[in-house]
Order: sequence, then C-alpha cells, then structure tokens
Amino acid sequence: MIIHNIVNKIPVGVLGASGYAGRELCGLVAHHPRLELAFATANEQRGQTVRIGGRSLTFQGPDDVALDGAAIVFCALPHGASLPWVHRARQAGARVVDLSSDLRPGHANENAVYGMPELQASQSGTLLREQIRTADVVANPGCYPTSILLALAPLVRAGVVASGATVIANSASGVSGAGNAPKREYLFAEVSNDYRAYGVGNTHRHLKEMTATLGTLGADADLVFTPHLLPVARGILSTITVPLTSRVADPLAIYREAYAGEPFIEVTEQQPTLHDVVHRNVVRITATMIEGTRSPTLLVTSAIDNLVKGAAGQALQNANLMLGLDETMGLPA
Ligand SMILES: NC(=O)c1ccc[n+]([C@@H]2O[C@H](COP(=O)([O-])OP(=O)(O)OC[C@H]3O[C@@H](n4cnc5c(N)ncnc54)[C@H](OP(=O)(O)O)[C@@H]3O)[C@@H](O)[C@H]2O)c1
Repeated sequence: MIIHNIVNKIPVGVLGASGYAGRELCGLVAHHPRLELAFATANEQRGQTVRIGGRSLTFQGPDDVALDGAAIVFCALPHGASLPWVHRARQAGARVVDLSSDLRPGHANENAVYGMPELQASQSGTLLREQIRTADVVANPGCYPTSILLALAPLVRAGVVASGATVIANSASGVSGAGNAPKREYLFAEVSNDYRAYGVGNTHRHLKEMTATLGTLGADADLVFTPHLLPVARGILSTITVPLTSRVADPLAIYREAYAGEPFIEVTEQQPTLHDVVHRNVVRITATMIEGTRSPTLLVTSAIDNLVKGAAGQALQNANLMLGLDETMGLPA
C-alpha cells in the first residue's frame, strides 16, 4: 500500500545553498512539516552532492533551476550578487526572502519589508509582522543588527534613552559570520587562540541598517558599533552601553512588557552565553544598571546564533508568516 503525504507541501528554493546561511536553511526546510526543497543552487560548488538534514542534495547552477517552481525563493547570496536574483525570482512570480544586505534599510533604493517581526514598529504605523505576511520581498536582517536592534528597540520605544546619547555596541561573532568562501584571515591558524576587533570607527556594513532602523523607531542617539572576531564557529554576543534619561529601577520589566508572548525572545536575569542560543532561533537578552557612573547607564547583553536567528531561522520565520503558516513552524526554539 502506498501512503500518500496527506498534507501538500509548499515548494521553496534556496539560491546560495552551498554557503553557510543557505546550508542552514536547507537543513531547516528538510525538517519543516509543510515545506519541501524545490532546488538548491551553488556557484563554484555546483554539481557537488552533500548530505543536509539527512538527505542527499546536489547543488545546481542558478541558471539551471526553475524559479517559478518555488512559492518562496530564499536568496542566500553575497551582497551585490543577490539583487539581480531577487528581480529574476520576482519576474518568475516567486516571493522572495533576501538574506543579503542589498534591500535592507539604509542600503536599498527600492522597497522591501524589513523582516524582523519582533521589532513591531514600521514607518507606516502598521505592525511589521502584518507587513511581512503580505510582502512580495522581505529583506532579512543582518546578524549583528538582529542582536543589537532587538536589544535596543524596547528602550527606544519606552523613551528611556538619553536624548543625543552615544550608544556603544561591542559585538563578538563566530567565524561562520564571514561565509565559507576561502579567505586567508579566516584560516584556523589565523583565528584560533586570538581575538580582535575589525570594522572599527563605524565602518562595518551593518551600521547603516542599524542607524536607519533606529531612526524609524524615533531614536535620537548615535551608535558606535565595533564587531570582534571570536574563534568559535557560530554565535554572536553583543554588550551594549546605553546612556539613560534617568535610573530605571527594573530594566527587565521594559523587555518583558515589550516582548510578552514573543516565542523567540528570551528575557533573562542571567548573562546570556553562546551555549544558550546556538542552533536555536532565539535572541536571549538581559539588562543591568551600571553602578558607579555619574550619569545613569544601562548595560544590555544579547546573544544569538548568527546562522539561525541571525540568518536562516529568521528567514524561515518570515517565510512562515508570508505563507500563512504558524510563525514557529519548523524552527528550533
Ligand atoms: N554567515 C552569516 O552568519 C550570515 C548572517 C546573516 C546574513 N548573511 C548573509 O547571507 C548571505 C550568504 O552568506 P553566507 O555566509 O552563507 O555566504 P557564503 O558562505 O559565502 O555563501 C555564499 C553562497 O552564494 C553562492 N554564490 C557566490 N557568488 C555567487 C554568484 N555570483 N552567483 C550565484 N551564487 C553565488 C556561493 O556558491 P559557491 O560557494 O558554490 O561559490 C554560496 O552558495 C550574504 O549576503 C550574507 O551577508 C550571512
């Protein structure tokens, strides 16, 4: 007797499936109860067969796949290379989640909905989550911005950030944040047993995305963002120093209220660590008043997995919303 799958699966495609973010997506799609992988592409690695999510998968060239065979196309391509494929997928009739920075706030000349459902606010006043549901193109947030914006947004909305303040965000990322194209500075012998800052002086690409989004939220503050390279495979920990208008007796109460009912945000009294979040689609946040400073200052710490909540997991969360599925479906919480 042949047992048919009683639930029709929805086809999705992954462009850039041989990269770190794309592979993570293919693994999540393989275990998703309502999605199936229509195609998975690579550039230099096209033709290679790998095992992802317990299945064999052969990467096709991007020109060899039928973009119209997917309800959603995930573009997990390097920035710059992604935008033409977003256009091609749209012309073929597919909806798109773009993981690159090409269409994010501060970068794009054309419209895409910013895919950070928990951010809540948008310029038009409609909740972002509602805009994502009907969007044709969603710009999936960057990994650092996910860890920093979700840590800052409740404070901005609560009006407790000092006017004209300089907010200082120091973030450390695992090496997978740089992608898997070979580069000398990311070789094991270069990164192991070492720790360094890069993109110093507010020169990192993610700064524009963060300042544009903070502006949308109504923030009147400067952001100094310094990323660091941490010799682990995955995970981001951000420590963020925030000057306040006045001392806040219970800073966690602001977060608990802002994120009540959010399945992927954990507000915690303990300091979050990478172990708490890797392989999970969550942001884990705590906040503590700093003692001994003349002006009231808050230290916020947030941790994510750069490849899950910072990339593939958040992309799948957005796709679930776009397809009218449960937002949490197929996601490791
Ligand atoms: N890594 C992260 O933590 C992270 C987090 C958030 C967002 N993102 C974003 O997600 C995107 C992918 O990142 P990644 O880290 O997965 O990068 P990656 O490991 O370097 O993978 C890039 C993918 O794109 C393919 N590709 C490269 N150039 C191409 C071209 N010209 N045409 C078609 N395909 C091409 C690569 O194929 P071959 O390998 O076969 O050449 C590979 O499949 C980037 O825009 C990145 O900024 C990454």
